[in-house]
Formats: sequence, C-alpha cells, structure tokens
Amino acid sequence: MATSWQRGVCLLLPIFVSWVNTKSSPLPLVINTWPFTNATEKAWEVMSEGSGKALDAVVAGCGQCQTQQCDGTVGYGGSPDETGETTLDAMIMNGDTFEVGSVGDLRRVKDAIGVARAVMDYTQHTLLAGEAATRFAVDMGFKEESLSTNSSVQMWKGWKSGHCQPNYRKNVSPDPKTHCGPYKPSSNVEERQRASDRVGRDNHDTIGMVVVDINSRVMAGTTTNGMNHKVPGRIGDSPIVGAGAYASSGVGGAAATGDGDIMMRFLPAFHAVTLLGQGLTVTKAAQVAMAPIAKAYPTFSGAVVVADAKGNFGAACHGLQGGFHYSVATPQIGQVKVYVVDCT
Ligand SMILES: *[C@@H]1O[C@H](CO)[C@@H](O)[C@H](O)[C@H]1NC(C)=O
Ligand SMILES: *[C@@H]1O[C@H](CO)[C@@H](O)[C@H](O)[C@H]1NC(C)=O
Repeated sequence: MATSWQRGVCLLLPIFVSWVNTKSSPLPLVINTWPFTNATEKAWEVMSEGSGKALDAVVAGCGQCQTQQCDGTVGYGGSPDETGETTLDAMIMNGDTFEVGSVGDLRRVKDAIGVARAVMDYTQHTLLAGEAATRFAVDMGFKEESLSTNSSVQMWKGWKSGHCQPNYRKNVSPDPKTHCGPYKPSSNVEERQRASDRVGRDNHDTIGMVVVDINSRVMAGTTTNGMNHKVPGRIGDSPIVGAGAYASSGVGGAAATGDGDIMMRFLPAFHAVTLLGQGLTVTKAAQVAMAPIAKAYPTFSGAVVVADAKGNFGAACHGLQGGFHYSVATPQIGQVKVYVVDCT
C-alpha cells in the first residue's frame, strides 16, 4: 500500500521531490511523516491564521489525514484487528508546558486526535485507553459510530480466509504461521519464534507531525489506526509520549513512524529531541536516535522526522526501500514539498 503510494509520488511529483538530508528555513514550519501533503497543507493553513495556532494546526493536520484515511493507515476503515475491528491511537503534545493528551485502542470514535486533545484539555491525565476512552470521548461530545467500512471488512475477510496470515502471535499453538486462533501458550520450544521475526512494512504507517511557530514554540501530534491484523488491545508507539512524538519549545520536536512495537522500546522521538538539546544537528539527532534500534533489531523498518526551534529539519530511516518520504511546509518553500532521505 505505502510502497505503491511512494512509487506513485516518485512518478507523479518528481519536481517536488528533493534528495537532500538537512534543510533550514525561516519559521513557521510544519513537518510530517510520509507524503501526506494534504495534512501538511491543512496545518499550514491554520498556522497562517495567526500566532498561537500551532496546537490547532497539529489537530487540523492530523485530523485531515483521519478524514481522508491517509494510506488506509490513519483514521477509520483501515487496519482491522484480528476480530475485524478498527481501533485508533493518537497523541498531542504541547512543547511549552510538556502537557500530553493521548488515546490508545480508541473504539468507535473517528476523531482520535480530537479525543487526544480533549484528554489534554479536560483531564489531568496523559493517556486514556480502550472502552473507557470511548466513554470519555462520548461524554466530551464526540460521536460514537462504527469504524468499519466495506473495505476494512473485505480486508479482514481475506485475512481470515487466508489462515489469518500474517499475524503477530508467537510461541502459541496452533502454529500461528499456518493457523487462525484461538491460541494457547505453546510448550513446544521448537516452535518458539525469534522476536525479530516480523511482518513487512506495508501495514504500519502513521502520520506524525511537528509544528514550530515563529516564536520557536514546538507542538507535535500523531494519529494512526495501528497495525493491520493486530492482536485486539494492542497499542502502538504513536500515543506513547517520546516514542510516537515529542516536543520541547525552544529546542525542537520529533515524530516517528514504522515498526512501533519495536521502536517504542527506544523512545526515538524523545531521544532525538534530547540530542537536539545537547547541540546535535537535526539530521545527526535523527540518525543517532535510530541507531540503537537498528543495532538491536537489524530488520526493523521505520523513520523519524526532526525539526529544531530555528527551523532546521531533517530525517533518518532504516529498512525502507527507496528511502523515507516526508512532507514539509515553510515560508521559504512557499508550498508543501516532499523530501526523501536515504536510509542508513
Ligand atoms: C488530497 O485532497 C484532495 C482534495 O481534497 C483529494 O482529491 C486527494 O485525494 C487528497 N489526497 C490524498 C492522498 O488523500
Ligand atoms: C457496502 O456493501 C453493501 C453490501 O455489500 C452495499 O450495499 C453498500 O453500497 C456498500 N457501500 C459502499 C460505500 O460501497
């Protein structure tokens, strides 16, 4: 899915694609993972309404992807879990106050980034999850509705009839590589799989966005429907602060995408922003944040976008064929531009 979309961008928009690692630009700045340029544009529009809009811009940009079901990996109607249900993860972070609002495993509410913002605005908590997060959302005025579509139902039916392949089970019986569940723990050591034995990258894209305003205030957010055919209850890296995204005003922000179950063990967004604070350049910070993940899991795939408070931006990736595409808007660019970074 994402691979063909990337290919499409290469073929259709060669003028806007630039193979440059680090760029600098006057503020404000919007940067997000993948060529989800409508989201970038939407956030940019909101930024142009005036200062103090960075948080709104993140919500609007991520919200655009939810509505347009970017790549099928954001919003309703994508990535059905083992039971066929689509559930959502999202986060927003205010780099001024370090406040965070997150939702994980959100069910039957489309606007995950909106609910994440409601967690930040209307509670003293950081992360709400599952059925109770749905109840919170409904109380806060969000609509409860099915997140399934014909396409997600078809996807799920195809997966079921294909013996539930691929899936994310291990060390269970019956053999998850050939059978559907229900599963039980396996006592057979021969069957034990290595943790690095992962499925392909096509089913784990996410929009992660960082906005830096003219006063170097930094805001970040993410939203996703997670991994296709995930085990019900699974929450990925996107709503985990420091994993999916991080923001620190006056320093910078970062957002990650990719194999979330692995990446969240290394908090790459927090790591990258910490490195910015220690004086590393955006590209170096991105690369150094990805390095320990690649060392521990050589076959993982993922990427991180990084922006500092001055308007420098860059990215690093691992295991993505054709490199990693990301979208940027700045006054200098004058329009949204897609950049590509080669993976290290
Ligand atoms: C971007 O938005 C336009 C107009 O709203 C729409 O036609 C197009 O499909 C969108 N692109 C993507 C990738 O969703
Ligand atoms: C979904 O499928 C149902 C029945 O198969 C059909 O009646 C309906 O028009 C479809 N909806 C869309 C949006 O394709």
